[in-house]
Amino acid sequence: AKAREKDRVARVSFSFGENAGPAGADSEFREFLEHEHLFITRYDDVIASLLDDRLSSNPRTAMTPEQQKRLPQVPEELRPVFKSLLTADPPDHTRLRKLIQPSFTPRAMEPLRARIQQIAEELLDAAERAAAERGESRPERRMDIIAEFAYPLPVTVISDMLGIPREDREMVRAWTESLLGGNRMDPESRAKLREFTDYLRRLFVAKRKQPADDMISQLLRIEEDGDKLNEEETLSTVFILYLAGHVTTVNLIGNGVYALLCHPDQLVKLKANPGLVKGMVEETLRYWGPVDFISRRIAKVDLDMAGTHIQKGEPMMVGLASANRDPERFPHPDVFDITRPDADKHVAFGKGIHICIGAPLARMEGQIAFETLFRRLPELRLAVPSKELRWNNAFLRGFAKLPVLF
Ligand code: HEM
Repeated sequence: AKAREKDRVARVSFSFGENAGPAGADSEFREFLEHEHLFITRYDDVIASLLDDRLSSNPRTAMTPEQQKRLPQVPEELRPVFKSLLTADPPDHTRLRKLIQPSFTPRAMEPLRARIQQIAEELLDAAERAAAERGESRPERRMDIIAEFAYPLPVTVISDMLGIPREDREMVRAWTESLLGGNRMDPESRAKLREFTDYLRRLFVAKRKQPADDMISQLLRIEEDGDKLNEEETLSTVFILYLAGHVTTVNLIGNGVYALLCHPDQLVKLKANPGLVKGMVEETLRYWGPVDFISRRIAKVDLDMAGTHIQKGEPMMVGLASANRDPERFPHPDVFDITRPDADKHVAFGKGIHICIGAPLARMEGQIAFETLFRRLPELRLAVPSKELRWNNAFLRGFAKLPVLF
């Protein structure tokens, strides 16, 4: 970023490089994203931009014909996975969001608490068993927090919620992994995407015949009740919920564990007072939130924002991590303090109409994960010096591996 301290807006060139982590919903726009962007950095400007309806989340509709021409062609049957809540503007966005919002309120999440707790305990039981089988004993047992805890926890929760049958989960996980690791537009990823969407369509047929108490059955019921939701939208909604419910929460758990292990004074506080876990989750979201920036906002008209003139069609990035470290909003922003009174004013979940629908779920998962982990494994510490750990990439902040001893 060619930003100087006084700048409110930086100009950045973004390169996906080899490690194409952000692939996600943005693969289609990959080439486009590699052009220079305006990058909104400060807290107040970030909030204002996310609330501004002159910005679109759908590059396609807001782009000039010249820009549209540069987009790769997406085969018709794969369209649903590139269209989702994330890339919809009102009125479509409003209609879709209203349909699934009731399933994600804090109150709707409450019945899940016991199940999440059970999953967390079972994962730690399994890690202890695996260590015992390797002949390791306390406090020198080994575990990879990501593979054995942070990853399987949210994936099991979202699979339960959606109603993905247990016997299919390994297969679905493998598809998702390959999609997250790469560019969805290359032939191999397209083939995987096709397998995944075909699978979901077959699952819909089965669930239409035999509905269950899960979210996919619920969406299919809405679809049949009238013309509120079509099959493409059901598919895209299931796809985005499965994917969005994944990487981000994995990173919340991984980053939080790492933050606590790097700040032993904060870990001591948490162990002495487990009630601080709520604040600890908020401070992790502020300090090392899983999403560094939103990479897809486009000016629908010429406008002035953050002291800068922005032209119609100009792509913008919105810096969540930079806003969360803005010293004007958070005094001593580089200090990790789990008792920070206003940590929950962070923008790690975004703001405005696209604010993360899964936030209550992610918060609950994070709170249960940290409470369970540090209660059951009080000797937990890093197995390698922290300078040997590398963040994955500059968009989704997290670790591929986090080896610990316990
Ligand atoms: C949207 C972050 C967990 C589902 C968003 C956005 C952010 C975000 C920043 C806004 C994107 C934008 O404005 O373009 C996070 C973080 C999470 C997390 C940091 C974990 C700590 C989840 C979970 C789910 C989920 C668990 C679902 C089960 C979604 C969906 C949207 C979204 C569907 C799109 C909402 C819309 O466009 O209206 N998330 N998320 N997220 N998130 Fe999350």
